[in-house]
Amino acid sequence: MTSVEKNEARPVVSLDHARKSFGDVEVLRDISLSVSPGEVIAIIGPSGGGKSTLLRCLTLLERLDDGDLSYEDVAVARGGAYGDKNVLARARQRFGLVFQNYNLFPHFSVLRNVMDAPVCVQGRDRAEAEAEARALLAKMGLAGNEDKVPCQLSGGQQQRASIARALAMHPDIVYFDEPTSALDPELTAEVLRVIKELAAENMTMVIVTHEMGFAREVADRIVFMDGGVIVEQGPAEQVIDHPREERTKAFLAQREG
Ligand SMILES: Nc1ncnc2c1ncn2[C@@H]1O[C@H](COP(=O)(O)OP(=O)(O)OP(=O)(O)O)[C@@H](O)[C@H]1O
Ligand SMILES: [Mg+2]
Repeated sequence: MTSVEKNEARPVVSLDHARKSFGDVEVLRDISLSVSPGEVIAIIGPSGGGKSTLLRCLTLLERLDDGDLSYEDVAVARGGAYGDKNVLARARQRFGLVFQNYNLFPHFSVLRNVMDAPVCVQGRDRAEAEAEARALLAKMGLAGNEDKVPCQLSGGQQQRASIARALAMHPDIVYFDEPTSALDPELTAEVLRVIKELAAENMTMVIVTHEMGFAREVADRIVFMDGGVIVEQGPAEQVIDHPREERTKAFLAQREG
């Protein structure tokens, strides 16, 4: 055997020494995070801690002021200097993003919401994209809803349709920003169930969530963020059950009310 490093689990995404300010407020302060293939990370922490900003920087909706960001071989930013638009376009093919508020196109059918980007952005064959979109919707428990428009679905169904839309792009990683915080408890459960199924299929995911029980169940690693830094991270048994840092303890104690 040669010593060629083959399939050495290269991170799907890596962020090093990231900084981001809005005006005078430094919202991300020297954040480093990399995600391995198949890993599921739950990001928890108090409001205003920078969780959404971190996801927005990872998904190129915001630009870092400093730091490095790569999606495997695609070097997106080095020292806060971004690659050209071809680089950014390549990076955008690597991830999917599911927001709190579904963000489906209101005038498109559910089916078109799912197959539009694969056809129009990725140039995939329409018939093949449609077949795949139907299969993804069925997997999300939405068979029979293909021709409806989003407002005819419940919040939980819309959220599952937006997960199908993200998966239709064949992302290497899917980011979720509080995917259930706009939902009633029974609708939350059905969305969490599909995310758990994806975890069981080794989908790489980063999930910002306030659902501690879910984070514990689904995540390989819990990242606790506060004040723009990662205060503590590790498996749930460590971060949730035996937190080391005072800030983590205070956050968890407050949540237990
Ligand atoms: N576009 C923006 N312009 C100015 N300030 C912003 C902007 N986006 C976020 N902030 C500020 O950055 C800080 C972190 O916000 P962020 O939304 O990342 O927190 P969060 O951890 O996601 O909070 P929550 O749990 O409430 O969603 C907050 O102080 C917020 O007011
Ligand atoms: Mg947020």
